[in-house]
Amino acid sequence: MKNWIIEKTGFDQQEIAANGNRFLCGNGYMGIRGTLEEYGKEQLCAINLAGLYDKVGEGWREPVNAPNPLYTFLCVDGVKYVLPQSETICHEQRLDYRHGLVYRKTVFKTAQGTVTITTEHFAHMEKRHLIGMMYYITSDYDAEVELYTGIDADVWDINGPHYDEVNMNLDENTLVVQAVTHEKKEKVVVAEYGVLNGICEQAYEKSEKKFLRKICFQCRKNKLAYLEKLAVVYTGNDCGDPLEDAKKDLAESVNMGYSFMRKKQIDCWEELWKNSEVEITGDKDAECALNYSLYHLLSIAPFHAKSQSIPARGLSGQTYKGAVFWDTEMFMLDFFLNSHPKAAKALLQYRIDTLPGAQEKARHYGYEGAFYAWESQEGGFDACSDYNVTDVFTGRPMRTYFKDKQVHISAAIVYGIMKYVNRTGDSELLYHGGAETVLECARFYDSLLLQKVHTDVYEIRDVIGPDEYHERVNNNGYTNRMAQYTFEQACILLRQCSKDKRMAEALKEYDIEQIRMRFEDNARKIYIPKPDKEGIVPQFDGYRKLEDTTVEKVRSRLLNEKEYWGGAYGVASDTQIIKQADVVTWMVMFPDDFTAEEKWINWSYYEPRTEHGSSLSACMYSILACSCGKPQEAYPLFLKSAQADLKGGGKEWAGDIYIGGTHPAAAGGAYMTAINGFGGVKIADGQVTAVPQLPESWEKLKFRILYQNQIYEITETKENAEIRKVSCELEEM
Ligand code: BGC
Repeated sequence: MKNWIIEKTGFDQQEIAANGNRFLCGNGYMGIRGTLEEYGKEQLCAINLAGLYDKVGEGWREPVNAPNPLYTFLCVDGVKYVLPQSETICHEQRLDYRHGLVYRKTVFKTAQGTVTITTEHFAHMEKRHLIGMMYYITSDYDAEVELYTGIDADVWDINGPHYDEVNMNLDENTLVVQAVTHEKKEKVVVAEYGVLNGICEQAYEKSEKKFLRKICFQCRKNKLAYLEKLAVVYTGNDCGDPLEDAKKDLAESVNMGYSFMRKKQIDCWEELWKNSEVEITGDKDAECALNYSLYHLLSIAPFHAKSQSIPARGLSGQTYKGAVFWDTEMFMLDFFLNSHPKAAKALLQYRIDTLPGAQEKARHYGYEGAFYAWESQEGGFDACSDYNVTDVFTGRPMRTYFKDKQVHISAAIVYGIMKYVNRTGDSELLYHGGAETVLECARFYDSLLLQKVHTDVYEIRDVIGPDEYHERVNNNGYTNRMAQYTFEQACILLRQCSKDKRMAEALKEYDIEQIRMRFEDNARKIYIPKPDKEGIVPQFDGYRKLEDTTVEKVRSRLLNEKEYWGGAYGVASDTQIIKQADVVTWMVMFPDDFTAEEKWINWSYYEPRTEHGSSLSACMYSILACSCGKPQEAYPLFLKSAQADLKGGGKEWAGDIYIGGTHPAAAGGAYMTAINGFGGVKIADGQVTAVPQLPESWEKLKFRILYQNQIYEITETKENAEIRKVSCELEEM
């Protein structure tokens, strides 16, 4: 792997899905999977649109993919040359992750010689609707070529098809496809302009779902032919008249030309890296993997939006229903707070705007306040089904309780909002719905509390903690502590009302004194598990009485490799084997709750009992190991998180459901490990401090963070940390 470039040489059919994730490019508005130009839905080709969902029949609601304007293939001397079918002499895919440029080179063997195609494409970082592509063709003899290029509206879905109508029109030389979604009749418009060697002479072909240009020419021996394409995507979600806007925007970009737009793309990415890049001297693999992870976060960030969040699988397709999980606030937010707080604000604004959805969910289950969606789509709609896993043996849906019982989600929103405000000093978010959101989440936990008879102890029963394999447990330590934190944060805001008029105004609907006293009481009396006599903090009531075994033993009990480990009768359910960091996540969140010794005892106990069945797990163990002064133990887990998308190989199935895609939470977790773990950065009370504990191979670690309108550049060696204030312009909040 070279710096800022990742590449895969050779063609491997088994890698098509993984490469789709690996070579993804995006700009927060859309994510373009790293598939090849001739690919279709069978190869999970997708231009995934942020925030646009559709539901067909009883199928799950899922995000919609735009018709694909990159679709291109060629026939040489009457024979079609495409992967995966045709024979190649060589093939490679590359990504310049510094600038969001994706390349491909394939040499096809034809009857008379070879034909080579070389391509490049991007999702434009400044002009969010724009896609650009160059497609070069050469041959080592005079070949008769038919080039087909245009828009493929036969898009990938898991629970579709999502377009009821697809209309195709030619507007001068522009191909226009207008599609209408099934559920909300939302318009999706794709307009495409393409010319070969600067000449526009072409025929057109329409089939039911493809609208193509057909360009016939003789490709002279060793002479380069090039197809230049620009295309835009607009939907009824972003504007009143997507057709008009699409035409206008495309015309502007065509006027500027491909090279100009490409140059802008490069400049724009350079600008983004200024406060994002992390330099690691002495460990190229770690440096590349980490910055590649950050590339993924930057590619899906809502820079362009005021209110938009990031799905758990980024913009990599249909998996996980394109839904937003706790992943955003708990794992991704830190990176954006440190580098692009405006994007962080959009993430939290999405939660504030979806408060009504959360309130409705709470009411539905008979609670007060705000119970956020476990799998949130637009409006806070919870896409999580009561039967979220399919039993591989019977083919029947299994009752799972993620949606009803993973109540820790609301506290993650509170954590995100309060962290944003503390880091940026921007209280506007609180005055405009943030404070109310915090209070509503606290009211939710208030209505969950149960007082144990004859005691002064409040419990939370019947929940699922971060470890999803154990359902419906009592007093999950992480959940109870996060609920306590929520009460505490609500009390801080309620106390602020006496000296801050705007806060008092924002919370005027509440009986301030009465509710504050109640939350203070809750925070005092909620049951928080303590370490037992061996120093182990039980994950929930009775956890340590479960069978104590190993991950390997549990794995060996599987009858089917896709079998679900948790739920009513999963192989892990009655054992101490857990899916992902749980108590450890609590210890990372609240490092002052425990001594370093307690933390290390629990790390050592839980790590061997953790399957790491979620990409969210390794980074938490890694951060905790650092806070116990064990950077070497942290290092392999850090790499695992940082390489989640580079290497692939993560879990692709839950029962019979495909859950592959990119892993932005792992990317964010790797970032937190580098900065807060190895970098030992602490940000509190107006101060940025850093106590380095770099792993052996790291000679120097250098990065920037933003804190309360100030940029800090931090350079660390094993012995020293230098923190320097940098003066430069900051983005308006
Ligand atoms: C994990 C959750 C996570 C979700 C989305 C699940 O496998 O258990 O904690 O939020 O994936 O990443």
